[in-house]
Amino acid sequence: MIKYLGSKRRLVPQIVALARAIPGARRALDLFTGTTRVAQGLKAAGFTVTANDIATYSAVLGETYIATDAAAVDPARVDALLQELDALPAHRGYVTRTFCEEARYFQPANGARIDAIRAGIDRLARTPTERAIALTALLEAADRVDSTTGLQMAYLKQWSPRSHRPLRLRAPTLLAGSGRVHCEDARRCVARDVDYDVAYLDPPYNQHSYYANYHIWETVVRGDAPEPYGVARKRLDVRTTKSEFNLRGAAWDALRAVVLGLRARHCILSFSNEGFLTDAAIRTLLAERFGEVAMVPVDSPRYVGARIGIHNLRGERVGEVSHLRNTEWLFIAGPDAAAIAEPLQAAS
Ligand SMILES: C[S@@+](CC[C@H](N)C(=O)[O-])C[C@H]1O[C@@H](n2cnc3c(N)ncnc32)[C@H](O)[C@@H]1O
Repeated sequence: MIKYLGSKRRLVPQIVALARAIPGARRALDLFTGTTRVAQGLKAAGFTVTANDIATYSAVLGETYIATDAAAVDPARVDALLQELDALPAHRGYVTRTFCEEARYFQPANGARIDAIRAGIDRLARTPTERAIALTALLEAADRVDSTTGLQMAYLKQWSPRSHRPLRLRAPTLLAGSGRVHCEDARRCVARDVDYDVAYLDPPYNQHSYYANYHIWETVVRGDAPEPYGVARKRLDVRTTKSEFNLRGAAWDALRAVVLGLRARHCILSFSNEGFLTDAAIRTLLAERFGEVAMVPVDSPRYVGARIGIHNLRGERVGEVSHLRNTEWLFIAGPDAAAIAEPLQAAS
C-alpha cells in the first residue's frame, strides 16, 4: 500500500468492527476511499463494496483491490506480465526529466524504469483489469523507492536510503469477491440511484489538497506530460483543481450535502480533532439525517510529515511541530448507533 496522508491503516479493524455489528449489513460504500484500505477491510469481511474517490490513482487501486475478483484472475498471467514489464530497458522520459532531474523524488535510474514500465503497460496489458493491476504494481513499487516523507509537495534534501534500491514490481494481493469503483465527486456519487446498508465517510479535514500532495501518482496513472511548475514540479492544473472539502468556507456545506444525500441505513464517519469542523457540528448533522449518533475517540499518531519535522520546498528541515498525536473521531449513525458503538467504546 502506498504511503498516504490521512490513511486509516490503524483504524481499519475498528471501522470494520462497527460495520460488522450492523444487523444484516451486506452492502457498503467507501465514499472517499483513497488507498482503498478501508474498502479492502470491508471486502475481506464479506461486504459487497463500492469504492469512490475523485483521484485517478485511487480508482486504479480500487479497480485492482475492490472491483477485481481474485478468482477471475490468472496469477500466472499477472506474474508473466509484471516480469515482462520489469525486464523492459530503462527509458529517459517525462518522469525521469521532471521528477528525477528537475526534482529529486526518485533516483534517475528508477525514474527511467518508471517511464519504461508506464509506456509498456499501454502496450502489453490486454484488459482493463490487467492495466489496473500493472499500474497498481507500478505505483506501489515507485512508492517503495521514493525520496519523500510520504507527501509530494517536496522531496528530501538528502536521498532517502530506500531510494537507492532498484525499483521492482510485485503482484498486488487480490481479494475474492466483486465490487464497484467510481471516480467522481462525492456529491455526484451519493446522487446515484443505489442503496447501501452502511456508508463510510473519510473526507479531507483541512486545507491540504490530495491532488497537490499526490500529483506524481496522478501523472503516472494518466500517463500524460503536463507542464510542471515550481520546485516541486507539480502539474499546472494543481493550481485550479480544488476540492470543496479543502476549503474552510465550503467544507461544511459540502459535507452537509453529502450526508443528507446518503442512501444508506447507517453511516460511519471519521474526522480529526484538528480539522475545519467541530465534533458537535458533525453530531448534529448525523442526527438530523440518521437519528441516533455515537462517537468513539481514537488517539492516533499525526501524519508522517509531522513526525519527521517541518521541511521547506527544498526538503530542508526547518522546524519541529508542536505535538505528535491527535484524536480521530469515529462516529456511527443509524437507528441503533449507541448499541453498535458500545463494545468498541468499552474496548477503547
Ligand atoms: C482522508 S483521505 C481518505 C483516506 C482513506 N480512507 C484511506 O484510508 O486511504 C480523503 C480522500 O478524499 C478524496 N477527495 C477529496 N475531495 C473529494 C471529493 N470532492 N469527492 C470525492 N473524493 C474526494 C481525496 O482524493 C482523498 O483520497
